Amino acid sequence: MTNPKHTLTDLALFGGEPAFDEMLHVGRPNIGDRDKLIARLNAILDRRWLTNNGPVVQEFEARLAEFLGVKHVVTVVNATIGLELVIRALGLQGEVIVPAFTFVATAHALQWQEITPVFSDIDPATHNLDPARIERMITPRTTGVIGVHVWGRPCDIEALEAIARKHNLALLFDAAHAFGVSHRGRMIGRFGQAEVFSFHATKFFNAFEGGAIATNDDALAEKLRLMRNFGFAGMDNVIYIGTNGKMHEFTAAAGLTALDSLDAFIAINRRNYEAYRAHLADIPGVDMIAYDDQERNNYQYIVLEIDAEVTGIHRDLLMRLLHAERVRARRYFYPGVHRMEPYRSLYPHAGLLLPETERLVDRVLSLPTGTAVDEGAIERIAGLIRFAVAHGHDITRAMENER
Ligand SMILES: Cc1ncc(COP(=O)(O)O)c(C=O)c1O
Repeated sequence: MTNPKHTLTDLALFGGEPAFDEMLHVGRPNIGDRDKLIARLNAILDRRWLTNNGPVVQEFEARLAEFLGVKHVVTVVNATIGLELVIRALGLQGEVIVPAFTFVATAHALQWQEITPVFSDIDPATHNLDPARIERMITPRTTGVIGVHVWGRPCDIEALEAIARKHNLALLFDAAHAFGVSHRGRMIGRFGQAEVFSFHATKFFNAFEGGAIATNDDALAEKLRLMRNFGFAGMDNVIYIGTNGKMHEFTAAAGLTALDSLDAFIAINRRNYEAYRAHLADIPGVDMIAYDDQERNNYQYIVLEIDAEVTGIHRDLLMRLLHAERVRARRYFYPGVHRMEPYRSLYPHAGLLLPETERLVDRVLSLPTGTAVDEGAIERIAGLIRFAVAHGHDITRAMENER
């Protein structure tokens, strides 16, 4: 192990040399085979069919539908627009139940359309919506539920389906984290009225930007195709209100190229996940989330929960320490969507009903993975965390004295 830390002054936080020369990023983008991508881009340039449901977009949608085992895939510019389109196409209004432990786009997609996101708490074991709490949040104005498969670990889909059925609510999934993931042997993409994926550069499977809506509902797919293209049903014939949510050909080419390398991306994530598990095992107060090995996973996120009462060092100080060592660890989804604007001002008391969310946003730390790290880096990152926890109280005291 290079650059071992034996004493507190070895830590970069206290003036020592950082363990890494470069920041190790969370989510350094994956790029598939460069030559294949360039060949695809050249073919697009030769064809000069750049957008408006071109052949590459059509091929990408067909391959995604086959991979996910779903009837329709409608690609869009990004997942946020995808969520907005589905919400509108399904006619949701009034209130929709969502977690606050999610990326802000889940709530924005509702509020943007003047629909109230009603934040419901999560199950601390899964970090996903807790079905047992949802029914308490339902009012006569509730029209739907949006589950988020946080970290690519599927929601309790069956329980959410039962609640939606019982109360006649629409059920959607924000599957931005869950591409390539299965639930009870079936791919995510087939559940609820629709599921929405993100292909943003931070996702292990990316098209630089981009997204897709997957659904088995023929009428919904048809409506989404109209809505993403201004409502055009043919030349000069607009039959519905729409926007411009179309994916263009270059994006689809990047997506197809990434799809060719999907197994390799997942293999790297899985290797990292197993290495982290091995190297972080048995550190008191540090729990790493696990993926269900009986299912397909993308192993996209390495997520720790730091219990400061046990470690003696708070998650935020551990993060500062790692940043000083040039390890780009990140808090998620800090401080919780309900504590961001406009929600903080609109619903100032939302946090009272979200004790598990409030607890979790204070504990979660995600670590670098993907092609940015190898086993040696993982060993050193884990070594830093082990050292920081072994000296948690001393580091905390030293930082307090510096103030
Ligand atoms: C849970 C979740 N929902 C929605 C989004 C929005 O995706 P996009 O950037 O494609 O609009 C993200 C993106 O990071 C996300 O993590």
